[in-house]
Amino acid sequence: MKSVVILISGRGSNMQAILEAKLPVKIAAVISSNPAAHGLETARQHGVSVAVVNHREHDSREAFDAELMAKIDGFAPDLLVLAGFMRILTPGFVRHYAGRLINIHPSLLPAFSGLGTHARALAEGVKIHGCTAHFVTPDLDKGPIIVQAAVPVLPGDTEEILAARVLEQEHLIYPQAIRWFAEGRLSLMPNGCVVLQNQQAVAAALVSPSEPPQ
Ligand code: GRF
Repeated sequence: MKSVVILISGRGSNMQAILEAKLPVKIAAVISSNPAAHGLETARQHGVSVAVVNHREHDSREAFDAELMAKIDGFAPDLLVLAGFMRILTPGFVRHYAGRLINIHPSLLPAFSGLGTHARALAEGVKIHGCTAHFVTPDLDKGPIIVQAAVPVLPGDTEEILAARVLEQEHLIYPQAIRWFAEGRLSLMPNGCVVLQNQQAVAAALVSPSEPPQ
């Protein structure tokens, strides 16, 4: 069974969705960059080993990443999962976990990389927004896309309402991405794109705005 380490910094709702998805993996540990992360308590309640590598106790990004890497490698994970991990990782760290490091981002990449995605989506007036699970490369939010979920932007949406609609989808697609990884079904093609092997494809369109049929 493949083993997984999850990195968090705060709330940990994606981590919780992964822990509760009954995936065919061993969750070896949850590691937080923030000792006050709410997700640490949730992980403990699920009987998962937890650890803290406090970013405030390190003078440089390199020193923090070196300690984090040592802690992670003690668990020898097959997959490293960023779940609301709020530190930018050094290229050396990312290269060390190449092909086994994934992230969830709250937009339909490549649109709205970086922070503040929901406010920016509302400001741009996009009609469809969503989330993306992707492999991590040294280029922030630019790694090969595994799976995306789209939601409509609806009249009256605030940043909070839209974030909640997107988060519900994050909790579905991120465990799914891990399941596919564990099943060995994700292939990185020479063109840099990910292909899901043995996919039973369905084609469904999301139209937004849309109205009920007359
Ligand atoms: C999520 O919106 C995720 O997409 C982003 O950070 C947030 C983390 O939330 N990377 P949580 O800690 O998983 O609840």
